[in-house]
Amino acid sequence: MRRASGLSASPGMINHRPAYHFLPPAGWMNDPNGFIHHRGIYHLFYQHNPAGAYHADIHWGHARSVDLVRWQHRPMALTPSPGGPDQGGCWSGSAVVAAGRPLIYYTGVSPQTVCRASGSDDLDEWTKDAANPLISGPPPGFGGDTGDFRDPYVWRAGEQWYMVMGSRVAGEGGAVLLYRSADLLAWEYVGPLLLGDPARREPVWTGTMWECPNLFPLAGRHVLIVSFQDWARGDLLFPGYFVGDFDGVGFRPGRPRVLEYGGCLYAPLVTIDASGRAVLMGWLMEGRDPAAQRAAGWSGVMSLPRVLSLGDDETLRIQPIPELAQLRGEPFQPAPQLLYPGAANPLRDVGGDCLELDLTLTPRGATAFRLRLLASPDGSDGITLRGDFSVGTIAFDRPDSVAADHPARLAAEIAPLPAERPLRLRVFVDRSVVEVFVNERVVLSTRVYAARPDSLGVELLADGGALAIEAIDVWPMRAIWDE
Ligand code: FRU
Repeated sequence: MRRASGLSASPGMINHRPAYHFLPPAGWMNDPNGFIHHRGIYHLFYQHNPAGAYHADIHWGHARSVDLVRWQHRPMALTPSPGGPDQGGCWSGSAVVAAGRPLIYYTGVSPQTVCRASGSDDLDEWTKDAANPLISGPPPGFGGDTGDFRDPYVWRAGEQWYMVMGSRVAGEGGAVLLYRSADLLAWEYVGPLLLGDPARREPVWTGTMWECPNLFPLAGRHVLIVSFQDWARGDLLFPGYFVGDFDGVGFRPGRPRVLEYGGCLYAPLVTIDASGRAVLMGWLMEGRDPAAQRAAGWSGVMSLPRVLSLGDDETLRIQPIPELAQLRGEPFQPAPQLLYPGAANPLRDVGGDCLELDLTLTPRGATAFRLRLLASPDGSDGITLRGDFSVGTIAFDRPDSVAADHPARLAAEIAPLPAERPLRLRVFVDRSVVEVFVNERVVLSTRVYAARPDSLGVELLADGGALAIEAIDVWPMRAIWDE
């Protein structure tokens, strides 16, 4: 934990490759796919280009885990078939097990269609259906001139199987389309489940194309997660959700909400595990340019798995999975204290690029706090998380389209929290990944690429008055990969 302990990065080396987040051995990764808990094992598939760190010739990679913490790489699950409906790539989709038979529903391109493959019992071998594509394109009026129609998400309710697809209406907004089937082969189009309105900016602008829909039951309600995209702007890529009720034909949604405020998590996928937990994993996009990604030889990381629950106010509560605690080393626990502006940094003895921090802070006059991570001793390098108690926002000190586009939303989610009440921050630092959970309500994930080998410091500062540090725990985190 202390700089001298050897837990920090080795001097002279800057390693941006995460040590306790999931990522493939090499190459490109984007969305999680086919996330499922089967016979006590979690299976995670993912959009993968094994040939290089760029998005092309997309395969489905596969890994499995008993605890969602340590992962074992498995053979490639899906490879594009020359001349087949997926010759342009095996894009995103989901997995189900029907009468003991594992099935993958995925997007064949191009054009975008729904394809299927059936798996061996261990989910290691997959056979594509001779009948592919099962659905050859969007219903009339959807998909625009690019035929956007992708990311089948399949689930069962009673005797009926359902599928939602991501799509759009040309010149208008995103769309989620609903299908149903009795035999998992013939799919009947039911109708649009939900249509976005790009003219509406409040409470959240939902873009012009919806990707990767997930619909699942939670606490007697249903949650629809959608990834909002807008190519005209390029930078609009973030997941949102609607809490509502699904009756087998229609969905009555509540207000759209932002699922992640950090600006780098996208295309999340939820699975309900054997204990009934709704577990979410999402793609943490890179923040460096394409040339740097190719040079590194890898691109894309999965978020830590997160458990979702529903609050009384019908918004999601989001927590990192408790299983992560097994990666913790010896804790560093400074005594509770009042931190004044200009006082010595209470975390000056902490350092490292693989850490978990659990902080409980209450303003006692402070108008803001700043938490610096991956900070170099000279102050030139590092990232700052700043919480503003007067306005009620929390953000990283970097351009962030999600927070910038939705300041009111962000403030509304956070504002009820810090005013005189403790703010609990759970922070995970893993080389180039930072994930922050604020009072289980707001999550911000970002990417940061230290420029110096000594960018390992952690610093907590109070502004404008005293900050009560009710509790601090810091742990070095162990790697899940051999390094
Ligand atoms: C989301 C997405 C999906 C698509 C996949 C292609 O990031 O664009 O809609 O299926 O990635 O890799």
